[in-house]
Amino acid sequence: MNKTTVISAAIFTAVCATGAQADELNVICSAEQEWCELMVAAFEAENPDTEVLMVRKSSGETLAQIRAEAGNPKIDVWWGGTGDPHLIAAEEGLTQESGASTDELLGWARNMSDISNGRTVGIYAGALGIGYNSEILEERNIEPPACWIDLTDARFAGEIQVANPNSSGTAYTELATFVQLFGEDEAFRLLAEIGENVNSYTRSGSAPSKAAARGETGVSIGFMHDMVKLASTGFPLEIVAPCEGTGYEVGGLSIIEGARNLEGAQAWVEFALRADIQSRAPEADSFQVPSNSNAEVAPESPDLASIKLIDYDFATYGSSDTRARLLTRWDAEVGDPNPEQ
Ligand code: F6P
Repeated sequence: MNKTTVISAAIFTAVCATGAQADELNVICSAEQEWCELMVAAFEAENPDTEVLMVRKSSGETLAQIRAEAGNPKIDVWWGGTGDPHLIAAEEGLTQESGASTDELLGWARNMSDISNGRTVGIYAGALGIGYNSEILEERNIEPPACWIDLTDARFAGEIQVANPNSSGTAYTELATFVQLFGEDEAFRLLAEIGENVNSYTRSGSAPSKAAARGETGVSIGFMHDMVKLASTGFPLEIVAPCEGTGYEVGGLSIIEGARNLEGAQAWVEFALRADIQSRAPEADSFQVPSNSNAEVAPESPDLASIKLIDYDFATYGSSDTRARLLTRWDAEVGDPNPEQ
C-alpha cells in the first residue's frame, strides 16, 4: 500500500466513523509518482467527501488495462501519460467527452481535444531528448552524443537504456519521432542499430534517465523534463536536444467510458486544468510545460521554442491502426530480448 492509499484509507475510515459516505474516485496516473500523490492530496483537500484511489502506471500499460476493463471499468479518470494512447482510447470508444472548457488552454492542448472530439485534452507538453552521465562517459573516454544517429555508433555498445514502446508512452513517442524524422524503413533500421547498443528496455519511460543519473548506464533516451529533474538535484546528467530535431508529447487527461463516479471524474478534469493547480507541478519536481496559458512555467522547464521540434502528427500516430502496426514491426525488427515481467 503506498502513502496516498494509506492516507486515503485513513480519511475513508474517519468519514465512515462519522456516518458520512465518501465518494470513491479511481484515478490512474501516468505521470511521476510524486506528482500523482500531490494531485491526489490537493484534490482531497478541496473535496473532503471524496476518497481518491490512485494507481501509477505507464501509458501503454494503462491503455492495455482500460481495454481489458472495457464494459466494466474500474477506473474513472486517466490523468497524465503521453497523448497518443489517450487518443487511441478515444478512437476505440474507451473514454468519453468530458465537457471541460478549453478556453484557457494553449493550442497544442486544444488540438488533442479537437482530434478526439472532446474525449481527451492536453495537460502538459515536453520534448524528447538524450541524456548522458558526463562522469561515466569521461571515465570511459566516450565522446558524448549530439545527434540521434550518434547512438548507432559502436562507442555506445552496452551504454544505452531506453523504454519499451509497448508499455511506455515515452518510447512510443521516440518510435513515432524516428518514423517522422527519417521515414519508416530508415527509422526501423536505425532503431535496430541503436538496439545493438541498448543494455535494457525498461517498462517506464523515466527509468532510463534515472539509471543514467545514478551511473548505471551511460546514456538514456527520454523526456527532457525528467532529465532536468535529475540534473537539478545534482546528478551529473547532461541533456542533449538531438541535432536532427526531435518529437514531443502532449500529456493527456481522459474520463473513462462508463466511469462509476462521473461527477467526481468531471470535477477532477476541471481541477487538473486550472492554472493554480498546474502551477504546483514543480513542487513535485515535475517540469513539463503546463497547458493552461495562465499557469506559471517553472524556470527549469525546457524551453520548447528553443528546441528544433518536428510537427508531430498526433492524429496519425495517435491512431489505433498506426500504433498496432508500428509496435508489431518494432517487436519483429528491434525487439526486447529480455522483456521485464
Ligand atoms: O515522468 C513523467 C513522464 O515523462 C510524463 O511527462 C509522460 O507523460 C510519462 O512520464 C510517460 O511515461 P511512460 O513512458 O512510462 O508511459
